[in-house]
Parts: sequence; C-alpha cells; structure tokens
Amino acid sequence: MERIVTSDERPEDRDEGLRPKRLRDYIGQERIKENLTVFIRAAQERGESLDHVLLYGPPGLGKTTLANIIASEMGVNIRTTSGPAIERPGDLAALLTSLESGDVLFIDEIHRLSRTAEEILYSAMEDNCLDIVIGKGPGARSIRLSLSPFTLIGATTRAGQLTSPLRDRFGVMSRLEFYTTEELVQIVTRTANILGVKLSASGAEEVAKRSRGTPRVANRLLKRVRDFAQFWGKEIIDYEVASKALDKLEVDRIGLDSLDKKVLLALINKFDGGPVGLETLAATVGEEAETLEDVVEPYLLQKGFLQRTPRGRVITALGYKHFGYSLPSNYQQQTFMENN
Ligand code: ADE
Repeated sequence: MERIVTSDERPEDRDEGLRPKRLRDYIGQERIKENLTVFIRAAQERGESLDHVLLYGPPGLGKTTLANIIASEMGVNIRTTSGPAIERPGDLAALLTSLESGDVLFIDEIHRLSRTAEEILYSAMEDNCLDIVIGKGPGARSIRLSLSPFTLIGATTRAGQLTSPLRDRFGVMSRLEFYTTEELVQIVTRTANILGVKLSASGAEEVAKRSRGTPRVANRLLKRVRDFAQFWGKEIIDYEVASKALDKLEVDRIGLDSLDKKVLLALINKFDGGPVGLETLAATVGEEAETLEDVVEPYLLQKGFLQRTPRGRVITALGYKHFGYSLPSNYQQQTFMENN
C-alpha cells in the first residue's frame, strides 16, 4: 500500500511515527470508531468502496489520523491533499483520474476548496465521472470521463462553511469531540512508550489534564516536558516534574494557554465581560479572527467560560471565577438580556 502526500508537509507530520495505524490502536472517539467499523466491514463484504466521509471538529483531534486509518482498514491507497493546495480545477481532475478502484482521496481543510474545484467534486462524488469543458465560446464542448469508484474523505474545522450541495454528498458525517482526561492519559502513555520516555501515572495525568482535550497538544506538551526533565537531570516524568515544566510553559491547571488567557482577560478587563464582536476581540489580542474561532473558542465554549451570543462574545460566571474575579454588579442583567 502506498502513501502519497501531495500537499505541503504540515508541522504535525513530525508526529507521523506517533499516529496509530489501525482502528484498534486509536484511543477515544468511541462512537465514531464503532460506526466506522460497521460501515467499513459492510462495504468490504459487498465488495464496494466506502461511502464518502466528512470528519469535522476542532484542530488536533485526529481527523487526518482517522482518514489514514480508514484507508488502512479498507486496504486501499490514500492520496492526501488540502483545499488551499488545489489551485486550479485541473489539479483536482488530475488527482481524481489517478485514483485506483476503492482508493481514498483525503482533502484536508475542504472548506477552503475553490468553488470551481468544488463543482468538479459534485459529479465525481455522485456519479463517478468528471465533466470537462474543452474550448471556449460557441465551439466549447463538454466531455465526460468516468472515474474508478473512490472514497472522498473531507476534513474541516468548519462544517458550517461547506455549501449544502457538497455537504449533502457525504454519506457519513462524523464530528470529533474533545478527549477525556482518561483518554489523554492513555494517549500520552502510548506516546511515551514510543518515544522511550519514562512517564509515571501521576505525570501522565498532569500532562493529560493540561492538554485542552486535544491529543496533538498532549503529545506536544509531553515532548516539551521531556526537554525540561532532561535539562533538570530527572529520569522520570512524575507529577512534580510535569507540573513544574507545564508552569514554565504557561499552561495552567486546566490547560488554558497564554492565548486562551489573553482572550478571557481581554473580555474581562477591556470589554466589561462583553458582548464584543469577534473581529474586535481578535484585533485586541493580535490574532486572526479565524484562529480565535477555530482554535481558541471551541475549548473555552466546551469549558463553559465563554458564550457566543448574537451581539458578540461574553464571558461567563465560570470564566470570571477561574481568574479569581467576582462578578460585576450588572452581570445577571446582561445574561438575562442575552437569553431573551
Ligand atoms: N495519538 C494521537 N491521537 C491518538 C489517538 N486518538 N489514539 C492513539 N494515539 C493517538
């Protein structure tokens, strides 16, 4: 089985050796795994390709890993690209015509595909064919190329940004959820074994608790904690070492990093708790609005520190409490107004 990467190498490709290769080694996302197991076995029994799959959710939860696992479990090749890497519709046509029967085409950040490339996908996904227009003006004609049956796996942090014709063509849609501390403990323990790092149960728990529910963060923090342990001459990463190192990395007890803190403190100190528009908030902390929306907010929302309201972002009572602030006198009134 070959693995062809057509997009630019992404930073997390360094983690290639850490990614599980089979569904049985993938920790967490139990409901998705159970369902995928059924769909994969059923398609295999019928001798068909797997229906198209859309994986969505915050970054770092394992969408790329799952796409690769699906291809392995189906026993087919995977071709990987991303929405922004496909500059012209012809790039996508070339990829589609090179697929062998049953192959997986993985398009990361599929919400960033151009409209013309997206339109090529419609007939490819639905009828296994490509409609190509040759020439221009009155002499232009359209030819239809047939494609081998294939599985498109799309990944996105923004399912809401997909057009409905594209979204409707996915037979399987799975939303990845944040991981529990217990699952992250298993993930960092597995990673420590692969890296040959001595990590105690209490050390694993501390890294897991501070990883924003995200395996990519957990694995990155483990590597940085390993650096501190080595520097301090500590052979084993236990609670002491992990918590001291994570403090140095400015990751707090519940995993908020410096950007999370900056966003929440800006809301409290500069906007009286909100509501404030996303663009204004982003400009205040010096980040792209898209980064706040895709990377920062999902975890703060899940933790109940932040609310999205029609008038903008609002910090919650829990958010104030986390930083040791008492609630402003108008707080009740503000939330009452937002809810009505
Ligand atoms: N490494 C990163 N994510 C993982 C997961 N979900 N299971 C096992 N190892 C992982």
